[in-house]
This record gives sequence, structure tokens and C-alpha cells, in this order.
Amino acid sequence: PANAASATIHRNDLCTASRKSADFVKHTQIDVSGTDLPGRIQPGQSIGVLPPGLDPSGRPHKLRLYSVASPTSGEDGNPNIIATTVKRLIDEHWEDRSLFLGVCSNHLCDLKPGDPIAVTGPAGKRFLLPKDPGAHDYMFFATGTGIAPFRAMILELIESGAPSRITLIAGVPYSTDLIYHDLFLRLQEEHERFTYLTAVSRETQADGHDRLYVQDRLVTNRDELAPHLSSGRTLIYVCGITGMEVGIFRALAETLDPRDLEQYLEVPAGMLHDTNAWTRKHVNREIRPTGRVLLEVYD
Ligand code: A2P
Repeated sequence: PANAASATIHRNDLCTASRKSADFVKHTQIDVSGTDLPGRIQPGQSIGVLPPGLDPSGRPHKLRLYSVASPTSGEDGNPNIIATTVKRLIDEHWEDRSLFLGVCSNHLCDLKPGDPIAVTGPAGKRFLLPKDPGAHDYMFFATGTGIAPFRAMILELIESGAPSRITLIAGVPYSTDLIYHDLFLRLQEEHERFTYLTAVSRETQADGHDRLYVQDRLVTNRDELAPHLSSGRTLIYVCGITGMEVGIFRALAETLDPRDLEQYLEVPAGMLHDTNAWTRKHVNREIRPTGRVLLEVYD
């Protein structure tokens, strides 16, 4: 934080499917020219943002991490412009039900082109694309703003010309909350190896299915997704709300042949018969994801 770079807001635009969404999510573009950041931030990494001002105890606010949503080459091929995906945190204090506004998310969402912003980074060494991206296929599961690293990875993979098959499964509460929806629809039109599936948890789906979580797509779209997962090339990435990994692991166990499943999860033999009983505790204690499953989940 002591060595934060001074950057500038380039643009700050809503990026949900509708302006009527109850959640405000911004695609925040930051001009990092003149810092040491251009060309150095890989998809899956984060930048730190220092909100101005002091916390209630009088100390400077702590650094907050935001996942980059732009590929290494930057937004629209400009390495000086990087992007992230920010949702306004609007809540109530649990003690007295008074309004609580997340400090950094609201700071970021309020910024206008030309405003200064203090950034650090890049941070993160684990949730990255593999060394030889074209040697793999990808299944990305996102809830909410967990979509940010996948926007970056998908743009990076497409830009590199990797012959990879890519499926993105994006989960949100309402269809108006879908993030980067037009971009992913366009990419799906343009690239036959890219498939975009949505899972709306509080409405009937456009394709007629009832309410869905991301993992339910493994069941509704089993005919197309199970062969994708059995190819021997596929990596599974999961980013979003804590707990989604339990549902995804259960759905993998329910829809894949045991031989395909063991590419992703080491499950004690006795547990395979009763996936309904899997809890977060079981999953944490007894089920080991293999190196082909990359998780980034948060509360
Ligand atoms: P819901 O809240 O309807 O139960 P956001 O970050 O915008 O709130 O979106 C998170 C999305 O993830 C919501 O659609 C939410 O559904 C969904 N969700 C909540 N819990 C899980 C879970 N255990 N597995 C998968 N998706 C989940």
C-alpha cells in the first residue's frame, strides 16, 4: 500500500443486462499508463485498490483486491487500460438495521472518467490459465461478479487463437443481473468453440427450465457437457460465492462416469452412492479436487 501507483479512471459503465437490475455492477476501466502495471497483469490476478479516507478507528482504509476482467493485452488491445468488475455493496447493519455501504465498492462505482485512483499489484499466483493454454479445454463456473476473471481468460484465449473449447456457465439471481451478457452472446456467435450458458436462480430460464444454480446446468445440458468433461483436456474453474463448489462437486459426481469423475475429484468409494448427503464439511474433509479443478470462492 505504501507504494501504490497513481492511476486514472478511463471509463466506468454499468455492465448488467438491464439498467433496471437491483444490483449495480460497473465495468471499471483504469488507465495505468506511467505505472509499472501495463502488460503485467494476467487473467486470474487481482489489483489492489486503496480507498481514500480513514476507517472508524482513524487508520487509513485497508487495501481491497479486485479481480481483473481484461486480458494481458489490456482493454481493446490497449495495455494501458485495465478493467475490473465492481458491484456496489448496499446492505443493512445487522445490529440496528441502518444503511451500510461498502467502502471501496461504492468509492469505485462513484468514480468518473479522469478521477484519480490508487492501485497496487498484480496479486495472485494460483488461479491462472495453464502454461500452455491451447493444450486444454475449459469449463468456467461463475456466480455474480465471479465472472470477472473469466471475461479476462476468455478474451485472452480467443485472442491467442488457442484451439480450446470453452464453456462459461454464469449464475445470477435475476436475468437483469447478467453481467457482460451482450459481450458473451456476441462471442458465442463469432466463435463456435465458445459456449455461453446462464443459470438464473430466481426466475424461469429463457429456455423454459425452472430456476437454476450453475451446477444444475450439468444436469440440464448433460448431453453436451459430459463429453466436454470426459475429453481428458478439460480444466474446471470455479469463481464466486462460497458453497457453490459443494453443489458443483455433487453435480459432477451425479452426471459423470466414475472414470471421468476421478479426473477432477478424489472421492472415497463409500461416498459416491449418496451425493445428496454431501455437506460442506464432508467436501472439505474427504473430497480432494485434483489439479484440474481451480477454485476461487469467497463470502
Ligand atoms: P440465490 O441468491 O437466488 O440463492 P450475486 O453474487 O449477484 O448475489 O449472485 C450469486 C448467485 O449465486 C445467485 O444467483 C445465488 O442464488 C447463487 N447461489 C447462491 N448459493 C449458491 C450455491 N450454493 N451454489 C450455486 N449458486 C449459488
